[in-house]
Amino acid sequence: MKAIVVADQAAGTAGMRLAERPKPEAAGNDVLVEVHASGFTPGELTWPSNWTDRLGRDRTPSIPGHELAGVVSALGYGTTGLSVGQRVFGLTDWTRGGTLAEYAAVEARNLAPLPGDVAFTVGASLPISGLTAWQGLFEHGRLQPGQSVLVHGAAGGVGSMVTQLAREAGAHIIGTGRAADRQTALDFGAAEFVDLDNDTLEDVGAVDLVFDVIGGDIGKRSTSLIRAGGTLVTIAGPPEARPVDGLAIDFVVESDRVQLREVVQRVRDGRLRTVIGNVATLDEAVAAFNPTGRVRGKTIIRVRP
Ligand SMILES: NC(=O)c1ccc[n+]([C@@H]2O[C@H](COP(=O)([O-])OP(=O)(O)OC[C@H]3O[C@@H](n4cnc5c(N)ncnc54)[C@H](OP(=O)(O)O)[C@@H]3O)[C@@H](O)[C@H]2O)c1
Repeated sequence: MKAIVVADQAAGTAGMRLAERPKPEAAGNDVLVEVHASGFTPGELTWPSNWTDRLGRDRTPSIPGHELAGVVSALGYGTTGLSVGQRVFGLTDWTRGGTLAEYAAVEARNLAPLPGDVAFTVGASLPISGLTAWQGLFEHGRLQPGQSVLVHGAAGGVGSMVTQLAREAGAHIIGTGRAADRQTALDFGAAEFVDLDNDTLEDVGAVDLVFDVIGGDIGKRSTSLIRAGGTLVTIAGPPEARPVDGLAIDFVVESDRVQLREVVQRVRDGRLRTVIGNVATLDEAVAAFNPTGRVRGKTIIRVRP
């Protein structure tokens, strides 16, 4: 099969190439997915899991990309819950061969059915941003209706999902980002916006929940805004400061079939919008992974036309 591979950690994205790789096999509880569309995270080649398996053994040449939408083409021994020919989407294991390929072997529990009226490109754009937003708000942040949420990077991939889901859940959202992101954040459902380059973050007052995708100084300053009993949820690595009387939780997104269903149902009925900025083919994937200019929205690789 055709796949994008990387073999040289020091070379980073410059070492990416299109190659011929053996088609993976579905192990026990796996499905083999014929990939139609694939999503990746721009910084993922810096993650240790891209280069080694769970035991830390070299697994290069490895295939990047951890989001997919496609069609089940085979079932491993003991696999239940999905059928050959079924449309699926989901988030694949960080330490196994990825989705920038014609086929990927994935544990069935990491996938959910993709409804027939949702395009493969849309399905592949949802797993990381949708699940991260869902888990950060509802599992780790325990968001309640009427609470106030400070959403950093509210116009970005994760932040826009956080803003939309929190708004639907009845929260008051203060979005942040660059000056140019103001209208986008408001359109996604933020009631207020803080331009981090020109406004004073501290002016927003007390909030119940901070959802941080930026970290560093912004994350640190945000902790002082958290009300007693509130929470800092961050996906930008271990927090540098913690709220005096509250929780600080950093987490890495996990796949979850029930949550994938919740996310895709909202996309179908218009409650949730994903922003796809560029769609490229697998032949164009190396260039798409290394864009020369800024791409607003998610880049999706359309593996099959
Ligand atoms: N732990 C996890 O499970 C997990 C899951 C998903 C994502 N992540 C990580 O979370 C981060 C965000 O992901 P994403 O997909 O949402 O990225 P994204 O689409 O680039 O969104 C980030 C947004 O924040 C803005 N921003 C960043 N730094 C800023 C600053 N200093 N001042 C003002 N605005 C700033 C960005 O604006 P500009 O583009 O103009 O900088 C962008 O609008 C990435 O580092 C990603 O790897 C972690």
